[in-house]
Amino acid sequence: MSKFPTYRARRLRRTERLRAMVRETSLEPADLIAPLFVTYREGRHPVSAMPGVEQLSVEETAEEAARLESVGVGAVLLFGIPESKDAHGSGAYAAEGEVQRAVLAIKRCAKDLVVITDVCLCEYTDHGHCGLLTAEGEVDNDSTLELLARMAISHAEAGADIIAPSDMMDGRVAAIRQALDADGFTHVPIMSYAVKYASAFYGPFREAAESAPQFGDRRGYQMDPGNAAEGLREARMDIEEGADIIMVKPALPYLDVIQRVKQETGYPVAAYHVSGEYSMIKAAAERGWIDEERVMLETAQSIRRAGADLIITYYAGELAKLLGG
Ligand code: PBG
Repeated sequence: MSKFPTYRARRLRRTERLRAMVRETSLEPADLIAPLFVTYREGRHPVSAMPGVEQLSVEETAEEAARLESVGVGAVLLFGIPESKDAHGSGAYAAEGEVQRAVLAIKRCAKDLVVITDVCLCEYTDHGHCGLLTAEGEVDNDSTLELLARMAISHAEAGADIIAPSDMMDGRVAAIRQALDADGFTHVPIMSYAVKYASAFYGPFREAAESAPQFGDRRGYQMDPGNAAEGLREARMDIEEGADIIMVKPALPYLDVIQRVKQETGYPVAAYHVSGEYSMIKAAAERGWIDEERVMLETAQSIRRAGADLIITYYAGELAKLLGG
């Protein structure tokens, strides 16, 4: 079997130029999506569980977006932190909400950047769940759909380029697609968090987005980490309902799922390298245990190698700079 000494794998590993020529996986700043947390407050507010990440005022969000655009990052993904929360998450679909205002502000100073908005009620409800509650305290699927559709419309009206529902209610892609089409937004794509696991890796995000559930957890609507075939069903269902881009989340613990979704659907796939994945790298790097820059690059490369077209990552700005953007 062995072709040695005719075949010597090391020949193409000798210099960086040679390695770059035969590298199978490419990584471009344009494939990166940077999540941003837009707060109703003024200024910038560090998130202690996510070193390097800050909550930003509407103005600061626009400035940050312009900086990201200048290094070649493809898109931003906006999350809102409203001043007040209620049972219906009414801040989510307020025309003057922080996300709606941030979209307008970004469009004025970073014209080519793709602006994606997260659609979910958890940052806006006083109970912190992703939908409306029944009298028994369960998240009610069908009555939540109408509010998600309203939220999507308010984002599209502000000028969002892509709508990204992350709530995991069944049927929400169809509800949002119908609402967008009925209001003349047939051109606005949906990036669906189709394969979203009930993951412990979201911990730091809940501090950043101030969205921790006040009771219980999200296992009643997000996916069980043991399941992969179900992820394919979720992806197919969302595609049938009109999703344009399929997301898998988190990324590294689910590379097998990313690969299968890409292979079996052929649709554009986005992978979300989530808050806990990011903060683990930061924490180890702060202690000097790993080389942050190399780990960041290797992580992004592995997500691309598994089959993701797009990577949502808190490292987007730094990665883009490193890649020469
Ligand atoms: C909202 C939402 C979450 C994340 C993205 N959208 C949190 C959750 O579902 O609890 C997590 C992102 C991250 O951890 O970086 N539903």
